[in-house]
Amino acid sequence: MDDKQRVGLEAAKQVKDGMVVGLGTGSTATHFIRELARRIRDEKLSIQCVSSSFACSLLARAEGLTLLSADQAERIDLYVDGADEVSPEKGLIKGRGAAMVGEKLLAEACASFLVIVDEGKLVKRLGAKFPVPVEIMPAAVRLVQPGIIALGGKPVLRLAPGGKDGPVVSDNGNLILDVTFPADPDWSALDSALNCLPGVVGHGLFLRYAKKSTILVGHPGGVRVLP
Ligand code: A5P
Repeated sequence: MDDKQRVGLEAAKQVKDGMVVGLGTGSTATHFIRELARRIRDEKLSIQCVSSSFACSLLARAEGLTLLSADQAERIDLYVDGADEVSPEKGLIKGRGAAMVGEKLLAEACASFLVIVDEGKLVKRLGAKFPVPVEIMPAAVRLVQPGIIALGGKPVLRLAPGGKDGPVVSDNGNLILDVTFPADPDWSALDSALNCLPGVVGHGLFLRYAKKSTILVGHPGGVRVLP
C-alpha cells in the first residue's frame, strides 16, 4: 500500500451514515472514493455524494455511489480531496487536474474539509513546486494575460498531453493558464486580485478554508494529522 492509498483509506473511516459527502478529484481522492464505496456496500450506509469533476463523476458512478448534482445539494457535510501543495498555514494549491473550479465550489460549501496528501505535498511556502492554475474563458486567452503579468505572474497556457492537439479544456469548456509568481508574494492579495480579473473563472489558490480544514498526511508509517 502506498501513502496515497493509506491516507485515502483513513479518510473513508471519517464518513458517517447519513452524510452528504463531497468527492475530490485525483489519484489520492480515487483511493478515498473506492474505499467509501466499499464501506457503503459492506455496511449498508446511506450516503449521498456530490462530485467535483467529470472524472470524479465517472468513477463515482462506476463504483455505484449515489450522486447529487451540485445544484441539487443543499449541504455538504464533509468534503474530501487531495492537493498539490499544502503550506504550514493550511493554504493549498490545487488544480493539477484542471478541476479546481468545481473543487472550490465544494470547499466553500462544505462544513468540514478533509485534505488528504502524502508528505511530498507539504511545502514551506506555496508556489515552491507548482504554478497556480488559473481557469479562463477561452475568449480571454490573450486579453487576460497583461492583467496577470501586472500582478507579477508568468502565465503559460496548459497544453493537452498526447491524444489531443492544443490546450487543455476544462470541464466547464474553459482554458487553463499555469501561472508562476516570484517567491513569497502576498498570496492573499493575489487570491483577491485574480478573482477580480475579467475573464478569470477561478483559480487554484485555496486560502480561505484553513479553519474548517483537517490535513491528513499519509507516510510510510501510517497517517498523521498536520498540527
Ligand atoms: C485536481 O484538479 C487537483 O486539484 C487534485 O486534487 C490534486 O492535483 C491532487 O491530485 P493527486 O491526489 O493525484 O496528487
